[in-house]
Amino acid sequence: MTNHNQYDGSLLEVDGLCVDYGVGKLPMRAIDNISFELKAGEAVALVGESGSGKTTTAMAIAGLLSPNAHISGGAVRYRGERLPIDDDAAMRPHRWSETSVIFQGAMNALNPVHRISKQIAEPCMLKLGMSRRLATERAEELLKLVGISSDRGSAYPHELSGGMRQRVMIAMALACRPSIVIADEPTTALDVINQAQIMKLLEELRSNLNLAIILITHDLSVVAESCDRVMIMYAGRIVEDGTVAEIFSRPKHPYTRLLIESIPNPSSGKRLIQPIPGDPPNLANRPSGCAFRSRCPSAMAVCAAQVPALDQHGLGRVACHLHQCPSVEEEVTVHG
Ligand SMILES: Nc1ncnc2c1ncn2[C@@H]1O[C@H](COP(=O)(O)OP(=O)(O)OP(=O)(O)O)[C@@H](O)[C@H]1O
Ligand code: SF4
Ligand SMILES: [Mg+2]
Repeated sequence: MTNHNQYDGSLLEVDGLCVDYGVGKLPMRAIDNISFELKAGEAVALVGESGSGKTTTAMAIAGLLSPNAHISGGAVRYRGERLPIDDDAAMRPHRWSETSVIFQGAMNALNPVHRISKQIAEPCMLKLGMSRRLATERAEELLKLVGISSDRGSAYPHELSGGMRQRVMIAMALACRPSIVIADEPTTALDVINQAQIMKLLEELRSNLNLAIILITHDLSVVAESCDRVMIMYAGRIVEDGTVAEIFSRPKHPYTRLLIESIPNPSSGKRLIQPIPGDPPNLANRPSGCAFRSRCPSAMAVCAAQVPALDQHGLGRVACHLHQCPSVEEEVTVHG
């Protein structure tokens, strides 16, 4: 067992993580060789189109994969200690108290017949063994922490706005004082004002509680102000990883560049998201070489033959042949 006070390495290390779905002859590889580190208090965004493996990565780290998922490789370490992510019972003491998850779409999953204070108090009793009185006090404290006055604790979910319900979900995620919160699309169902308020709340919690945050989103525009680093996922792999400043000003992977170009920019008259032409590959029948090649404006012969490795590039990492053969390397600039 690691002594938490003495450990000064990364808070979380994800090392070559692979997850397959399906228990048949042809399991589908949903995430493939995912590796990254997260420091205490760091905010990292995981960005990619639908189906790129963001939620699977989160669930694998938190030990919450569905029964038809299989961890087929890799390891996850928390403060240097390997987590038993494929063993439900052994994961129990780690879950929620080290890493907790704000689930995708969860604000609509609050129990409609229970008051919100009761729904927050419940996990405190179950997971922290608190008495009902202490758990109710803790629920009030958590509501205050997320900006809801304690007298609203007696409300039922339908009496709260979407933004307030999402705050309740954040309060529940903080119940066991985790040091990592994974927020899976926390603002998707909200209007622009509530989106901004939830992002501000996550930032405040991060700085007040020294929380590390993994923010999952398909929308690059929400990460610019709230994250330190961005990891871009495509077809189950990380294709680029860098600081927010590097990713936005000098994207190296063609997919990252197209994602940035797709962001609406009213000052240039571009008001709607410009979708990237083409579709992601079928993961059950992965193409040879680079999975992005059918949509890539820079694809070359080598891209069909070899899977590009995720190599260190300056302070970041990129998986693209443009950046692996010096003869063809070119600076990828942002247009528009
Ligand atoms: N329980 C499951 N059983 C079988 N396949 C699954 C399951 N969950 C996800 N998948 C598949 O795994 C791949 C990755 O899915 P995942 O939900 O991790 O993507 P995502 O990036 O979170 O997408 P989204 O942005 O739509 O939430 C997809 O092809 C998806 O269809
Ligand atoms: S490896 Fe080739 S196909 Fe893939 S992103 Fe780079 S240039 Fe495009
Ligand atoms: Mg998802």
